[in-house]
Amino acid sequence: MTEMQPGRSCLAILLAAGEGTRMKSARPKVLHEVGGRSLLGHVLTSLAQAGADAVVVVAGPERPEVAREAQAVLPGVEIALQTERLGTAHAALAARAALAKGYDDVIVTFADTPLLRPETFGALRAELAKGSAVVALGFEARDPNGYGRLVTRDGVLEAVVEHKDATPEQREITLCNAGMMALDGHQALSLLEAIGNDNAQSEFYLTDAVALARSRNLTTSALVAPESEVQGINDRIQLASAEAEFQRRKRLDVMAEGATLIAPETVFFSHDTRIGRDVLIEPHVVFGSGVSVADGAVIHAFSHLEGAAIGQGALVGPYARLRPGASLGAKAKVGNFVEIKAAEIGAGAKVNHLTYVGDATVGADANIGAGTITCNYDGFFKYRTNIGAGAFVGSNSSLVAPITIGAGAFVASGSVVTEDVAPDALAVGRGRQVAKEGWAKGFREASLARKAAAKKP
Ligand code: UD1
Ligand code: CA
Repeated sequence: MTEMQPGRSCLAILLAAGEGTRMKSARPKVLHEVGGRSLLGHVLTSLAQAGADAVVVVAGPERPEVAREAQAVLPGVEIALQTERLGTAHAALAARAALAKGYDDVIVTFADTPLLRPETFGALRAELAKGSAVVALGFEARDPNGYGRLVTRDGVLEAVVEHKDATPEQREITLCNAGMMALDGHQALSLLEAIGNDNAQSEFYLTDAVALARSRNLTTSALVAPESEVQGINDRIQLASAEAEFQRRKRLDVMAEGATLIAPETVFFSHDTRIGRDVLIEPHVVFGSGVSVADGAVIHAFSHLEGAAIGQGALVGPYARLRPGASLGAKAKVGNFVEIKAAEIGAGAKVNHLTYVGDATVGADANIGAGTITCNYDGFFKYRTNIGAGAFVGSNSSLVAPITIGAGAFVASGSVVTEDVAPDALAVGRGRQVAKEGWAKGFREASLARKAAAKKP
């Protein structure tokens, strides 16, 4: 992404204090996830992409996990504690020390709106660059109840009025305040400090910055975003609706980049899923975090992938499960009811049916027969299995790790392999077959006779 507003410095203040009781959760609200990333993480990433030079997360002192997640997502982020929740302007002032440094642009935004795009933060900054001192972000609300209203006259933003303070006429306004705001960094501290709490909720309202700026003859303006982008999350129902919007966007992105999704609405991505060109994804596929799929690969229906790297032209599924550390070489094939964990499957290798390969390396062009199991765990420790290039493992074999099957070696089907197999050797690890001529016929006749005798009165 190109840098937004080059030459202007930017401070972002992310308000994240508050308990989010409607989630009914042991977890802080902003650590709930959309697309496998915390709400907080989404906003932090967007702010970084919008060119924020410094980010201060305002958190409540009772939730240290919020600060930990913020540091993990964006190392170097500052944490400011708001000990009493006295309103959004009061929360922003917890970042007083950073505000005093005099950045060109200041963005104040909420940690529970994960769908805000970096471009929208960039657009707010562009308004500042054009001369606005305060820029509010509005949206046309389907149900304006509860939101602050943008009061405009002749297209000019005059004030933001909270629902509880609004007159009946103001409550008719459907253009609502999304909450986030951009302020001229050289005015921000003075504006925020001048905000009082003489209102219906006795709170220090960030939104009062608009009317205050106008009283000082500063320019104010509003931008409008789609409601789907600014939706905040307060409960599990809104969380699911944000997830739906996130998935809708991600599917469009993946298709725009050249992948085919036969039934996009049935495929679920993670925030970090990377899909190449000419990839075909059949219906009902779930991507957990950390998956990359190279060009030309096919992910057949009902597969579940997590922490896996899929090579060019590889085939996966249907009904495959790829767990963290699974890595498939070019044109490798992992078929139905196969589970792969922490294993490299070499280029052109085939693991086609009903198999578990864990903690293993499978060489190029090896063939792993149906029902093969790498016995990698003894209840205490895990061990590795190495299978050389071009090896052939017969169906229903158990490979007891640690073990090495040499390149080009052959394992007879049904073997329990406990000792290393040399390259190009044959290993047979099963009971020898015994055939008894006529035994079955004799058994059948004797059994029928016993049954008939038992039935007689
Ligand atoms: C706010 C806006 C309102 C807008 C709405 C959109 C104000 C005064 N009002 O109202 O115009 O329509 O968002 O959802 O800004 N927070 C703190 N500390 C505080 C108070 C809030 O960190 O003392 C954080 C909260 O974690 C939350 C955000 O600020 O993420 C918004 O606070 P909230 O109380 O939900 O504001 P609203 O009443 O919804
Ligand atoms: Ca809110």
